[in-house]
Amino acid sequence: MGTAALSGLALALALALALPSAALENGLALTPPMGWLAWERFRCNVDCRADPRNCISETLFFEMADRLVEDGWRELGYEYINIDDCWSAKQRDAMGRLVPDPERFPSGIKALADYVHARGLKLGIYGDLGTLTCGGYPGTTLDHVKQDAQRFAEWGVDMLKLDGCYSSGEEQAEGYPEMARALNATGRPIVYSCSWPAYQGGLPPKVNYTILAEVCNLWRNYDDIQDSWDSVLSILDWFSANQDVLQPAAGPGHWNDPDMLIIGNFGLSYEQSRSQMALWTVMAAPLLMSTDLRTISPSAKEILQNRLMIQINQDPLGIQGRRIVKEKTHIEVFLRPLSQAASALVFFSRRTDMPFRYTTSLAKLHFPEDAVYEVQDVYSGKIISGLKTGDSFSVVINPSGVVMWYLYPMVLPAQPWHLVRQQGPSEGFHPVLL
Ligand code: GLA
Repeated sequence: MGTAALSGLALALALALALPSAALENGLALTPPMGWLAWERFRCNVDCRADPRNCISETLFFEMADRLVEDGWRELGYEYINIDDCWSAKQRDAMGRLVPDPERFPSGIKALADYVHARGLKLGIYGDLGTLTCGGYPGTTLDHVKQDAQRFAEWGVDMLKLDGCYSSGEEQAEGYPEMARALNATGRPIVYSCSWPAYQGGLPPKVNYTILAEVCNLWRNYDDIQDSWDSVLSILDWFSANQDVLQPAAGPGHWNDPDMLIIGNFGLSYEQSRSQMALWTVMAAPLLMSTDLRTISPSAKEILQNRLMIQINQDPLGIQGRRIVKEKTHIEVFLRPLSQAASALVFFSRRTDMPFRYTTSLAKLHFPEDAVYEVQDVYSGKIISGLKTGDSFSVVINPSGVVMWYLYPMVLPAQPWHLVRQQGPSEGFHPVLL
């Protein structure tokens, strides 16, 4: 190598070192994270005297970890057990460090991390970039970012949800990338979940999804989920209305997060529970359950443990699906392209009268001509063999329910079609062949 080339290299190296890197590049969350998160179901219940079984304490997390392992969740991929707000003491210690509440977490977070790691699980924790967390516990102001990242890493934490209460837009624009760098600098792989966009309205120009994908592994875009069907619908509506912006932002290592699964709680009927699972799966959403795994019903468990559903959610291509049809009859169709030329379709009914017979064809849903598919109903397991693109078919969809299909081609069309990754709304959204 000549001296000119060498000095060119040296210059490039010097530039690379001098430039602040905003990229997370931690190689984590290549598929949407799966696990359990305390917030929606257990909130900020800190009254362990009156309610020892349900308060935010180490016991709750030990018990949920046991359930994840013993009831088949871990084997299916539900590996994170995540603490949310209200875990810490109301004050930092004399050295300015975060400390867990001594009465509710007497063993400390490190012991909890050791416990879950010994069982093949991972531990998530919660912080807030601001003066206080949303629940009023000590926040991570800019001067504490490095210290807190270090502390989480020392404890053996595997995921951080960084909320954004009590901070300004400017502080967030500085602090969220700063935490990404601080986490990377610890050398410990820590999945980074940012609430940043949710505090900025979730849309451009205030939210830059290109930057976000370089900073965070997943991010909350919108309002908190509550234990009601109305809440699920409002989230779905917002994600669908803004899918042209949101859908291209997702991919391996960087995901939109429409918030927790509330299946198993009090607000959703059986049909609505199946709908949340199917819709979150086509949206390539993280599958973070917030429910009491000690008392969950067999039917809720069956929905959450559907193997084909999880396989679709975890598809390695990591392409988020889209709503492709919105009928006047209040039927909507969602499509998610999957690896190996497969796809998932969700037929969703917003009707409130009776089961609706919806007739369509794969041609109408923009599938390539001349292909023949094997179809598996994701919930019933029934198989339809030899469905041609031009064949008309009907599905019967219950009120506020779904029919979900997994399709893979038995015969490919003569002309391979091309990957369609990011399209304008007018061009439609097609299944892909890689
Ligand atoms: C915010 C977040 C929720 C939860 C609470 C905790 O509202 O969006 O997910 O973490 O704070 O106080």
